[in-house]
Parts: sequence; C-alpha cells; structure tokens
Amino acid sequence: MRAILLLCLLQASFAVPSFNWDTSNSKAGPENPNEVCSIDKGSCNCCVMLKEVNRLKTHFDEKLSELEQEYVQTVQSLKFIEAGRVAVSVALLDNDHYIWFGKFSIDTIVPYKHVFINLGDGYNTTSGIFTVPRSGVYSLALTIFSDAGAPGNTLAACAILQVNGYVVAGSKEINTRDQEDSASVVLALHLEAGDEVAVKLPRGCSLYDDSNHYNTFSVFMLYPTEPLA
Ligand SMILES: *[C@@H]1O[C@H](CO)[C@@H](O)[C@H](O)[C@H]1NC(C)=O
Repeated sequence: MRAILLLCLLQASFAVPSFNWDTSNSKAGPENPNEVCSIDKGSCNCCVMLKEVNRLKTHFDEKLSELEQEYVQTVQSLKFIEAGRVAVSVALLDNDHYIWFGKFSIDTIVPYKHVFINLGDGYNTTSGIFTVPRSGVYSLALTIFSDAGAPGNTLAACAILQVNGYVVAGSKEINTRDQEDSASVVLALHLEAGDEVAVKLPRGCSLYDDSNHYNTFSVFMLYPTEPLA
C-alpha cells in the first residue's frame, strides 16, 4: 500500500509540475496511466487519480484559452470605445468683448469661436461646421440668447439646428416686449460619419454674446453604431 502511494505521488510530481501544465520535460516517468497500470497492477487507484488530474488539466486549459480570448476581445472593445470618443462644446465668443452676430440679409452658419472641448476634432472653428467623425447616436444641444439693444426694439433671437443643410429643429423668439431672451433645443439623433452638423442663423435673426457664453452648441456621442474604419 505504501509502495502504491509512493508510486502515485511520484507520478503526480512528474506529471503535474507546479504551475506548469507542460509535461514535455517529465519524460522520466510514465505519463500514460495505462503504462503505470502495466508496471504495477496494484496502482490502479493511482491510474484513477492521474486520469482525474488529466481531466482537470484539459478542463483548465480550455477555460484558460476561453478567458484569454475574452480578455483580447475586451481589450479590443475598450480601444474601440476610447478611439471613437466624441465630445464637442463651443460658445460664440472667444474674447472678453461682446458682439451681436446678425442680423444678416441671408441665412448664415454660426461660427462658434470659443472651444470648451473638441474631442475627436470634428468641429471646425472657421466654418462652424461639426463633421461627424464616426457613425453613432449623438446628443445635440443648442442654446441661443439675444438682446434687442434697448427696450421696445424688436428682439429676434432665432436659430436652426441643421444636418447636411436640412432643418432638424429650430428655436425662435421674435417680439418687441422682451429686451432679452434665451431658448434651447436638446435632442438625440442617429448621425452617419461625414454628416455635417451646424447652427444656422436665419436672415433677420441675431444673437448677442459676451464672456458669459450665453450661446453654446454641444454634440456628444452617446454610443457608436459602427466600428472604426
Ligand atoms: C475649416 O473650414 C475652413 C473654411 O471652410 C476650411 O478652409 C478649412 O480647410 C477647414 N479646416 C479643416 C481642418 O477641415
């Protein structure tokens, strides 16, 4: 019995070196349980143990390669998400002065000059156009503000959120009772890579801004809908 146990331990130590499943360097001992059985008929308990050890080894090898695959996929997903982050927030004026933007006789794109953030480099401060870098569901937010200049003057605070030149949503406040007014539009849209998002100032409208950044335009990606090119 003692001999069987010894043989068994010997087998285990050859077949299963600690933290190393590779048994290629354990040639010194018989690896096949059948071999052990042929050497000593009494060591069948040991055969059972070795079979069990081999079964566990196969099981853990499979689990390990599954986990490795999942890990690689997780790292890829994370890189995919990080590479596609898009967040843009801009305001009309980038200095300490004040301006009226408008009124103009034609519709005009509003070139927001102050950049809070332009993650993904989709926004162009010269043209005022945000070009969607990656297809996805986006949140868009527009806040406008205007000042008639003096009580009784016509206030014309109005702007249009547009995608590829088409109206998505607008806000409009035209009257002679308020000297100042503000309005906001917030929505979620599915945008395709290359789409051009901008704020249009319709003719006759005007915006007022100063260092308080009353006029802001923001685009955030909520989630991407296609892999990076
Ligand atoms: C930004 O827009 C201006 C005016 O349309 C254009 O000349 C310029 O090339 C654009 N910049 C980039 C980086 O696309």
